[in-house]
Amino acid sequence: MTEAAHEQDVAAEQYRREQHVTDQVLASFGGAASARFAEVMGALVRHAHAFVREVRLTEEEWQQGIEFLTRTGHVTTDRRQEFILLSDVLGISMLTVAVNHPPDGDATESTVFGPFFVAGSPRVELGGDIAQGAAGQPCWISGSVRDPDGKPVAGAKIEVWEADDEGLYDVQHDGERTAGRGHLFTAPDCGFRFWAVTPTPYPIPDDGPVGDLLTAAGRGPMRAAHLHFMVTAPGYRTLITHIFVAGGEHLDSDAVFGVKPSLVKDFVEHAAGAEAPDGRVPERDWSSAEFDIVLARDKETSDKEAPE
Ligand code: BEZ
Ligand code: FE
Repeated sequence: MTEAAHEQDVAAEQYRREQHVTDQVLASFGGAASARFAEVMGALVRHAHAFVREVRLTEEEWQQGIEFLTRTGHVTTDRRQEFILLSDVLGISMLTVAVNHPPDGDATESTVFGPFFVAGSPRVELGGDIAQGAAGQPCWISGSVRDPDGKPVAGAKIEVWEADDEGLYDVQHDGERTAGRGHLFTAPDCGFRFWAVTPTPYPIPDDGPVGDLLTAAGRGPMRAAHLHFMVTAPGYRTLITHIFVAGGEHLDSDAVFGVKPSLVKDFVEHAAGAEAPDGRVPERDWSSAEFDIVLARDKETSDKEAPE
């Protein structure tokens, strides 16, 4: 046998052995009760095995990967979700958003949820202040919620949350204080308005394994300045999104790939002493921004339940 023929035989045997492992694992999911579970796990196994083969993963590298995931688990608590952060910096969160929210007419685009939403935020009246002690420049936010035909959606629930001017959410501060978050409902004319603080850029938590990953990649941890929204109304798809500050830093290098041009809004600066739309005269400079929201119809429920 020539040396070339021998090498070919070895390569063929190597391929057969590798494929045998993959085939065995794929077959092991074949009896799953849920067809969807079998489909998802099958694809996960095929892609993960293809990855191992493509990069010819060494045993030391796989060990490093296991150690990374172990550290990610150890740093995760009720108040810190390092796995969401990992999904975010790998773009998996935004890809899942893209897959699940295809373009739908003029419907407002979705973006990443992030790890800092807290259910049960305080209710604020229209024109109220969600800052509740969060430090920062006052910011007046107003807008409307409509359906794809332009019809007002009254009573839509709007949840908002944001970091303070130190770049920290309330849950990242010591203590139990709730600040920089709240919820309100659209008025009968579908309008909403509230005070908040002007969003500023901030780093995602980078003192854990995900921070190490960013450093190894030569990437920064900064998010473009933004304010989070979650909008719900019966008969419509839940909208999870942000508005970003036009002209701000990091719009082109957001650490979690969350920026979409349609979500970048002008935050107009006003001098101290200028009267705000609610008649208030802030003693310090303030800003204002508008956000007109269009909710996509929930195709599952809109046939059964015609929204008013
Ligand atoms: C956020 O905007 O709150 C966020 C999103 C992804 C990762 C970390 C923070
Ligand atoms: Fe955020």
